[in-house]
Amino acid sequence: MTPAEVARSRERGLATEHCCDSRFPTLFSPIGLGALMNKNRVMRVATTSNLAEQGRVGERTLAFYRTVAEGGAGVVVSQATRLHPLEGVVPHALPLFDPGVIAGLRRISDAILEQGALFIVQLNQGGRQHLGRRVGTLVAPSEIACPRSGGTPHSLSTREVGEMVEFFVSAAVNARDAQADGDEIHDAQEHLIGQFVSPFSNQRDDRYGGSLENRMRFALEIISGARRRLGDQAVIGYRMGVEEFTAGGVTEFLRNRPP
Ligand SMILES: Cc1cc2nc3c(=O)[nH]c(=O)nc-3n(C[C@H](O)[C@H](O)[C@H](O)COP(=O)(O)O)c2cc1C
Repeated sequence: MTPAEVARSRERGLATEHCCDSRFPTLFSPIGLGALMNKNRVMRVATTSNLAEQGRVGERTLAFYRTVAEGGAGVVVSQATRLHPLEGVVPHALPLFDPGVIAGLRRISDAILEQGALFIVQLNQGGRQHLGRRVGTLVAPSEIACPRSGGTPHSLSTREVGEMVEFFVSAAVNARDAQADGDEIHDAQEHLIGQFVSPFSNQRDDRYGGSLENRMRFALEIISGARRRLGDQAVIGYRMGVEEFTAGGVTEFLRNRPP
């Protein structure tokens, strides 16, 4: 950043003392994110807050996001929201499949917009990783027990996979109706999308299993479905985890791929 740029960004209230750190000269300068402008390059990543009240945004959740946005990040990503009734209605989580959540989410969008930041809603389905005692039916690409939760899931049929794609897309539409700037598709930490991508948990022989291209198909259909419904203006991000900590999983697969 030139001294003149630093002065201008101070005037706009976008700069802090860190702006002059020569290791990160552009950290606090604006950058385009798709069709939108981001006030800086700091992103607050998703963390589940467990602050919802009876599945709704109450004052605690609102205060949480308002405080986060006041911290100055250019992008605020929400906690992982739930997008399928199979995941159960857990009072402290936000069920984005339920249109009743939109009005509360809209209050978060407004609070984040007040700080000039972008609001991105994270879309997730936990698949077999949920705790069985909390969720009626665990689902996954294949009937393979989760090394972490221990739960053995129901293997989704090809038709059910298509329906799950639609749940992701409708959740993205609900987030848009709550004035969010876009969505982040959650493929980190071995939730349902990651379970499809991993050759350990995905042993299907239909078009969603086998080659990497097939294992990615579930995620790609969600992204293209959301893009179709939301149009070109919305941000659609993809958070991909590449360390599965599981023998035969995606980490080994990527490491052993020919260059
Ligand atoms: C309490 C808690 C809740 C989290 N919830 C989510 C979540 O909902 N979605 C997500 O993608 N990551 C979630 N994470 C992971 C964080 O986004 C982040 O990757 C992790 O804390 C590591 O951060 P670091 O790379 O700065 O060390 C959570 C982490 C913590 C500690």
